Amino acid sequence: IGKEIYCFDEVDSTNIIAKELAEDDAREGTVVIAKTQTRGRGRRGKKWISPRGGIWMSIILRPEIPPAEAPHLTLVTGVAVAKTLKREFGLDVGIKWPNDILIGDKKVCGILMEAHARFNTIEYIVVGIGIDTNVDVDLFPEEFREGATSLKKELGREVDSVDLIRKLLVEFEKVYDDFKNGGFPEILNEWRRFSKTIGSYVEIRKQLGETVRGEAVGVNSEGALILELDNGDLRKIVSGECIHLRS
Ligand code: BTN
Repeated sequence: IGKEIYCFDEVDSTNIIAKELAEDDAREGTVVIAKTQTRGRGRRGKKWISPRGGIWMSIILRPEIPPAEAPHLTLVTGVAVAKTLKREFGLDVGIKWPNDILIGDKKVCGILMEAHARFNTIEYIVVGIGIDTNVDVDLFPEEFREGATSLKKELGREVDSVDLIRKLLVEFEKVYDDFKNGGFPEILNEWRRFSKTIGSYVEIRKQLGETVRGEAVGVNSEGALILELDNGDLRKIVSGECIHLRS
């Protein structure tokens, strides 16, 4: 990971650049980083505010896994980011299923996994990681400000982004290698230890406007969230669906 790193001052989205490079046969582990993004993308087609001072990066992966397992990479990446932030800063780091990294109950990092498959085989996966490091989230438009925080805000000082990127990539490589060597069950256990979702009452908005409510009781071996509905039934939610934590 990171043997080839492309650094830009400004791009539309590092995920888009990474996709183009991957289509051009860029090798596994190629990393794209930008100081700012003009069209940063979040999940579900949402905009992702990406001012200077944050870490906006994408990693190209070519794992030999069935497309159905691609969402595992979201959890793998979450564990790598959470472990790095916890180790480097000792903050109260948590994960909200499937992909938000929290400090306390505020979001500091989002992960956008995009898998590209052909004939039921993965050609490549782009994992986008956005971290609000030295960013002033209080200046974000209101809808983005709510529930967001930055490392700078939590620590009361700026962090060294280059150093953090280096440590993140080292950790990512470790967790990703474990994943490729069949270590997903153990990675899931680490994920569970970081989870702020399990044990809380959540509301999931499904694609077609349906809303499911229940207590998140666990994550199964595929990384899907298990909800216990109000009537006691269990329901499996795969990532790609949107989750709202309710207190
Ligand atoms: C989310 O939580 O909605 C996911 C946000 C992912 C943002 C990152 S920033 C780097 C990469 N490029 C993008 O356009 N998005 C991801």
